[in-house]
Amino acid sequence: MAGPSLVCLTGFALLFCTFCDGKVMMEYIGALGIPISFDDVPIDPEIDFNFILSFAIDADRSGKYQNGKFSPYWSEDITPSSVKSFKARHPNVKVLASLAGWSLGEKVIAWYKPRSNQAWINNAFASFKRIAVEYGLDGIDIDYENFPRDRNDTTFAFCIGELITRLKEEKVITVASIAPYYLTVGPYVMLYRNYSGVIDYVNHQFYTDKVRSPAGYLLAFRQRAAQFDAAKLLPSYEIRGRGIQGDSFFDALGLLRSRGFDVEGVMIWSADSSKEDGFYFERKSQQFLLNATVPSEEVGMQNVVRT
Ligand SMILES: *[C@@H]1O[C@H](CO)[C@@H](O)[C@H](O)[C@H]1NC(C)=O
Ligand SMILES: *[C@@H]1O[C@H](CO)[C@@H](O)[C@H](O)[C@H]1NC(C)=O
Ligand SMILES: *[C@@H]1O[C@H](CO)[C@@H](O)[C@H](O)[C@H]1NC(C)=O
Repeated sequence: MAGPSLVCLTGFALLFCTFCDGKVMMEYIGALGIPISFDDVPIDPEIDFNFILSFAIDADRSGKYQNGKFSPYWSEDITPSSVKSFKARHPNVKVLASLAGWSLGEKVIAWYKPRSNQAWINNAFASFKRIAVEYGLDGIDIDYENFPRDRNDTTFAFCIGELITRLKEEKVITVASIAPYYLTVGPYVMLYRNYSGVIDYVNHQFYTDKVRSPAGYLLAFRQRAAQFDAAKLLPSYEIRGRGIQGDSFFDALGLLRSRGFDVEGVMIWSADSSKEDGFYFERKSQQFLLNATVPSEEVGMQNVVRT
C-alpha cells in the first residue's frame, strides 16, 4: 500500500531536483601552485558545481596593496579559455573568484582601512569586473582572513557589502559566498547582518573549529547556524587537513541531516590536494547530496510499514 505512493514521491523529488539548483558543491582550486585542470574533477550533472578560483588579490606581485585593484594569482593552468571551454561543456558548472586568501608568497594579506571607502569600492568593482569578463565568471567569494585589531572597524563590512551589491545590481555576477573561519566570524557577521540579501552561501571553514567527531561537528554547525542562516551555511572539508577527516565527515553529514539540517551543499578545500586521491571526497559528497530525495520522515514511515 505504501509502495506506489513512495515511488511517486521519489519520482517527484527527482524530477523536482533536475529543475532546481538544490544541491551545491563549492570547491576551491588553483591556490597551491601545482598543475591542476577542471577536467580532472568529477562533476555530477545534477549538482550545481561552483569552482572558486584562488585567489584575486588587491596587491602587486611584491605584495604592495593597490587600493582595491585586484589581480588574479591562481594557478597559471587556469586561463580564460580553459574556464570558458569547461563551462561550455558543463552547463551545471559555475566559476567564482575568491578575494584575498591568507597570503601572497611570504606576504600575509590583510584587510586594511581604505583612505576612501568609495575609491576602494570603485577600484574593486572595476578590477573585478574586468577579471569576470575576461574569464567568464559567475560570482565572487570573500576570503579575507586577517583584520585590523580594531574590532569595531566597519570598513570591511561596508566596502565588501557594497562591492557585492553593485556587482549583482550591474549583473556582473549572480553568485556570492563568504568564507569566515573561527577567528574571523566577527567581521563576517557584521557583513552578513547588513548584506545577507546579496550573499548566497556561507563557506564557513569548519576544519578550523578543530572538531574531529560527527557529534562535535553537529555542535559546531549549530553554533555557526546561530550566527549565519542555516539554509546558506555549507558543511566543509579540508583534504588531508585539519578537523574531521576521512569517512567520519560523511557520518557528520548524515548526523546533520538526521537532526533536521537540510545539507544543501558541501564546500571542499581544495581540488589541488584532491587529485592525489582520485577526488574521493568530491565523488562521495556529490553522492551524499543526491542521495536524499525522500525526507527522513518518509524513510521512517517506510520502515514502520515494513515491520
Ligand atoms: C569599540 O566600541 C565599544 C563600544 O562603543 C568601545 O567601548 C570600545 O572601546 C571600542 N573598541 C575599540 C578598539 O575602539
Ligand atoms: C549596517 O546598517 C546599519 C543600519 O542601517 C548602519 O547604521 C550601519 O552603519 C551599517 N553597517 C555597515 C557595516 O554597513
Ligand atoms: C546513500 O544512501 C544509502 C541508503 O540510505 C546508504 O547506504 C549509502 O551509504 C548512501 N551513500 C552515500 C554516499 O551517502
